Amino acid sequence: MTDNQKEQHQQLNYPKSIQVKGTDSEGTIVYKNLNELWSKELVNDNNNDLKWYTSAADYWKSVDATVDGMLGGLSYVSDTDVECSNKFITEMTSLGRGRALDCGAGIGRVTQHLLLPLFEKVDLLEQNPLFLDEAKIIFKDEKRVVNYFAVGLQDFDFKDKNNGEPIKYDYNIAKKGFIMDKQDSSVTRTDEHLRYLFSQADATVTKSILQPNFPKSLFPVRLYAINSTPTTTSTSETSTTTTSETSNV
Ligand SMILES: C[S@@+](CC[C@H](N)C(=O)[O-])C[C@H]1O[C@@H](n2cnc3c(N)ncnc32)[C@H](O)[C@@H]1O
Repeated sequence: MTDNQKEQHQQLNYPKSIQVKGTDSEGTIVYKNLNELWSKELVNDNNNDLKWYTSAADYWKSVDATVDGMLGGLSYVSDTDVECSNKFITEMTSLGRGRALDCGAGIGRVTQHLLLPLFEKVDLLEQNPLFLDEAKIIFKDEKRVVNYFAVGLQDFDFKDKNNGEPIKYDYNIAKKGFIMDKQDSSVTRTDEHLRYLFSQADATVTKSILQPNFPKSLFPVRLYAINSTPTTTSTSETSTTTTSETSNV
């Protein structure tokens, strides 16, 4: 993340309704509002890199390159997750099926079970090169997996790669406030908060559902189809989709 991006983060003029107290994963109130979260957390480490991303990278380095590792020990939710996402994408009938970019791809679970059956070609983007090494083994005979981008989403240049096509985005949802997880540098936000962030990026939500049949003990997961060009009609799904499953960007 550049200094410019850092400034943009800090300069968001959050509406009052989301400018509320935030907690850490234990439920302790640690931030009086979002500005305090970002002014405390967007600090540089000893190498002058943003600690927010280096601690997330350190956390993921310690995680096994397995489906269980990808899902925090909850590999049993994988089928439900894939089934719901498959229905969500399939219902976007005008969506092209040429190419998808799997963001925060891990070892390629989503590519393998969701994207390859739906799209002709798939690229993987993942900040942990060790996960990509495992993905390369899994897809060694799969010519339709084309690129492996070993880079953080915050540093990826989407220019020329997304021409305003829809992005499918899965996100853990907080009931109120926001929850900061120090272990993996992620923030769980409310639906309203996420929609505000999409609007700040000039993105329009064209479709959104809560993932059904998800264990009650976990955060609810909401799926969004967002379009990077503002639309006036209800759906403007075009050719390619991008999936994102990360929550720390
Ligand atoms: C919960 S795992 C999900 C992996 C995979 N999408 C799946 O569902 O099986 C989150 C993944 O996002 C990656 N990740 C976290 N922050 C990222 C970032 N800033 N840019 C790219 N990838 C990131 C992690 O390394 C990890 O592989």
